[in-house]
Amino acid sequence: DEKKRIFSGMQPSGLITLGNYLGALNNWTKLQDDYDCLYCIVDMHAITVRQDPQKLRKQARDLLTQYLAVGLDPEKNIIYYQSHVSQHAELSWILNCYTYMGELSRMTQFKDKSAKHADNINAGLFTYPVLMAADILLYQTDLVPVGEDQRQHLEITRDIAMRFNGIYSDTFKIPEAYIGKVGAKIMALQEPTKKMSKSDENQNNTIALLDEPSVIMNKFKRAMTDSDNQVRFGEDKPGISNLLGIYCAVTGVSPEAAEREFANAGYGTFKTSVGEAVVAKLEPIQKRVKELEANKDYLDSVIKSGGEKAGRIAERTLSKVQKKVGF
Ligand code: ADP
Ligand code: NA
Repeated sequence: DEKKRIFSGMQPSGLITLGNYLGALNNWTKLQDDYDCLYCIVDMHAITVRQDPQKLRKQARDLLTQYLAVGLDPEKNIIYYQSHVSQHAELSWILNCYTYMGELSRMTQFKDKSAKHADNINAGLFTYPVLMAADILLYQTDLVPVGEDQRQHLEITRDIAMRFNGIYSDTFKIPEAYIGKVGAKIMALQEPTKKMSKSDENQNNTIALLDEPSVIMNKFKRAMTDSDNQVRFGEDKPGISNLLGIYCAVTGVSPEAAEREFANAGYGTFKTSVGEAVVAKLEPIQKRVKELEANKDYLDSVIKSGGEKAGRIAERTLSKVQKKVGF
């Protein structure tokens, strides 16, 4: 078919947040009719940081459930676990041999993560970008939706692919960044100068997609604001700007209209409105999660057939590569 291929993935390294939803998942659902999409649950990437096995397995399953609950259709997209498709590991090894220590040393995410996990600076953390290159290149991907923090990873993927193609003739499609409607960047509720992240230890910084309404309302109540009592966007107002951004993203109201709506409101009233809007947005997703969780056979069949479909495409690329390098 003529549709362009998109690859994206998410780590099952914690509870999916409102940031993951508004910045990624929600946009993915809008691509599924126009593109040929693979949405991977990248459990192999997750073990670059120590994980509890039971928890990892549950988080992967929960991520699958939430992919489906937000509206990703397994008939229209290939949804699968990275660890189920062994070609990722195989291609990753080969690409390791075409990647330089120097270029990996320059990856800012490696520097950040090794500072954060100083007790476990493992080789997987270092070669993480090579596995990510394999993820993308295995499927002859055209487009990769990337946030700012992933730009460098896409660059190295392109460099590795061009290097390999240069040595062995065209093998990999050179992927490009998908520049679509950008999702909102959601910041941590109590520290609005850093992004909301599923690996944040302070639970009050994040809204999990599956948080109960009362929990959501409470977290918004405790969100950081400022002392000038005006609900408006401003560089000097990261907390209020973040809350306004969340409000706009979940309601579809424009920034100007949102500022007008809350022009005479106090912060308490404003936070309650933001909380209620988020609760309303997440309610149908949470309901759908419960329905899906009751249908284990269906979830098993989705992940099994996704892995098979992905494996067939991946094998075509891998066997070409193996031949070219001399296996
Ligand atoms: P996390 O930091 O929550 O573990 P990841 O780094 O695994 O998130 O990113 C998964 C996807 O979610 C990426 O596409 C990323 O751009 C998006 N994403 C993560 N956090 C946010 C956020 N706070 N706001 C918007 N998008 C986000
Ligand atoms: Na992360």
